[in-house]
Amino acid sequence: MENPAPVVLDPAGRDIHGEAARIRANGPVARIELPGGVLAWSIADQELARQALSDHRLSKDPRQHWTAFAEGRIGEDFPLIGWVLMDNLTTRYGADHTRLRKLTAGAFTPRRVEALRPEVQKAVDELLDELDGCAPGEVVDLKARFARPMPARVICDLFGVPAEDRVQMLRGGEANIDTTLTPEESAANVAQWHREMAEFVESKRRDPGDDLTSDLVQAQAEDGSRLNDSELVGTLHLLLATGTEPVMNLLANATRALLTHPEQLALLKNGKVTWADVIEETLRAEAPVAHLPFRFAVEDIELGGVVIAKGEPVLINFAAAGRDRTVHGDSAHTFDATRPNKEHLSFGHGIYRCIGMPLARMEAEIALAALFRRFPDLELAVPAQDLSPQVTFIMNGVETLPVRLTPQSR
Ligand code: HEM
Repeated sequence: MENPAPVVLDPAGRDIHGEAARIRANGPVARIELPGGVLAWSIADQELARQALSDHRLSKDPRQHWTAFAEGRIGEDFPLIGWVLMDNLTTRYGADHTRLRKLTAGAFTPRRVEALRPEVQKAVDELLDELDGCAPGEVVDLKARFARPMPARVICDLFGVPAEDRVQMLRGGEANIDTTLTPEESAANVAQWHREMAEFVESKRRDPGDDLTSDLVQAQAEDGSRLNDSELVGTLHLLLATGTEPVMNLLANATRALLTHPEQLALLKNGKVTWADVIEETLRAEAPVAHLPFRFAVEDIELGGVVIAKGEPVLINFAAAGRDRTVHGDSAHTFDATRPNKEHLSFGHGIYRCIGMPLARMEAEIALAALFRRFPDLELAVPAQDLSPQVTFIMNGVETLPVRLTPQSR
């Protein structure tokens, strides 16, 4: 097909997988149109996405490498401006990226994460205890009552966010994912988010505690050249948001998959598949991060039969890559925890690979196992087709997850 029309991304994210399939039908690397009429490339093919993720000719820094931004054609009125102006790992390249990554990655090594197991178990148990109080047959939004607060509690504890400030402090990251925000709303959100986080950092400077924010503040005081104020605030934005939002989607997507595939749940209960199988299959078939902004070509790059011109933006389509038929065959779209090959890129790959991967996997395993143990009769309270998708094309999840924890008759 000669130059197919770009797929226009739906800001409301109403059909993440249908949209991914339409993009893929236009080629393994295909043109898309972002809100604001901005053209970009989407990489939907798993092998090409892997290559792109480890290709040094793709930068994450818009200031250096996005031609339209450098020339002033992308301004405050670009609806995704929050993703461009962020001052953290997600907008850095080369040595600058390595410097910021080193400052944070050490806190999330497998050994450090293993030490957090009791904290995670405690957060899970407390939230399940609260749910225990629900009446039989009562409809509960499991996303609001469990999938979101669980990782939020863990990450806020780690970073020393006071309990009374948590809802507000996490709101900025939540809003940043909503791709239906107007440019004004998006810019206002970024400004308020920055202000709140700067005040939080100040409070830790005045009154340090035994938490990772205080450690970062301390590292900055000892050697100011390593992390400036804006980077410190930006790094906290990133870690509080990534520590919560994608884990929430992993929990909600795995729960939804099991409740809509009773035969898979039975295999799990019979020990024929493990929680690790369910989690990896969810990551593959329902990637929690669907379509992530941004990368920019540092020079012209030939990939998948097209040339991505120097300075053009690129998004990696993780949702599509997990369902690549060339890797997973005709059943790629089916949730099947027994499949031997569950290969996915849902945590990224290469030097930008997710820092929180061991924590996310551990949280998911503890939370899901405890949830299904405590509420073995858990069921969806609405037909699966009535579940509303999360309002975003960046993430892949549900707006709410209405369930009954125990049947009416009890
Ligand atoms: C199921 C849960 C999660 C998923 C699916 C996920 C997914 C991803 C993906 C796809 C990337 C790569 C982005 C890219 O290449 O541009 C990434 C990066 C990152 N993730 Fe996660 N993530 C999860 C949980 C977490 C958690 C719990 C944390 C930390 C508290 C975290 C922190 C980060 C950070 C800091 C980066 C940036 C790494 C860099 O640029 O070097 N993530 N994540």
